[in-house]
Amino acid sequence: MKILEFDELPSTNNYAKSHITEGDMIIIARSQTLGRGTKGRAFHSAEGGLYLSKLLHYNAFPASRVFEIMLNTSVAVCRTLEEFRVSPTIKWPNDIYVNGRKICGILIENTFSGLNIATSIVGIGLNINNTLPEELKNIAVTMSEVGQKQFDIAEVKNRLIYHLGQSYSVAEYKRYIFFFNQKILLSEQDGLHEVTALDVDEYGRLIVEEKGSFRTVTAGEVSVLFS
Ligand code: BTN
Repeated sequence: MKILEFDELPSTNNYAKSHITEGDMIIIARSQTLGRGTKGRAFHSAEGGLYLSKLLHYNAFPASRVFEIMLNTSVAVCRTLEEFRVSPTIKWPNDIYVNGRKICGILIENTFSGLNIATSIVGIGLNINNTLPEELKNIAVTMSEVGQKQFDIAEVKNRLIYHLGQSYSVAEYKRYIFFFNQKILLSEQDGLHEVTALDVDEYGRLIVEEKGSFRTVTAGEVSVLFS
């Protein structure tokens, strides 16, 4: 696959979007000036991290299988981190945490054609040797802080690209979810719900129990909060 590397870009996802009519490719930047996160938030993207987007075109990939893209990406990041002796967990659906702080953010942007996914831009921002701003230090972490050393960014990048080319199962994904059988807070349209997280089904829906009844919640509709 074509791999394009830049010192700086506004956003690797934006670059992929403006080249969406071209073939599959991976775009990497050493830093981003307008890194984007989920829900329209900014994503801190200083030098020392890895900012990567993978642009994929599908042929008849059903939209009902959208979760597979999320799970493959999350597990690919987790496998990469483990190779560097960093032990990750997944906060459903696809935030990667280490010791309760976020080490990697994933932003997946899909286009649809009827009931199929036409293209995906899989954006990954991984904190490696970058210095975090003061306001993020309690909620985010870098590989270098966990490992107490500097990492070779090119090596991390190569392993991540390798793992992004693999397919993983729901079982492999669930191995990294840390909150099963625990009380979590779901932020839904009608307010906050305290529920027990039980499982994730094959479509990526979270199965929860609330006051004795069971229901499934879909990624994108809720936020999972921790106090
Ligand atoms: C999040 O945690 O909110 C998702 C963050 C995703 C950040 C990555 S960095 C590479 C790609 N380019 C972007 O502008 N965003 C994603």
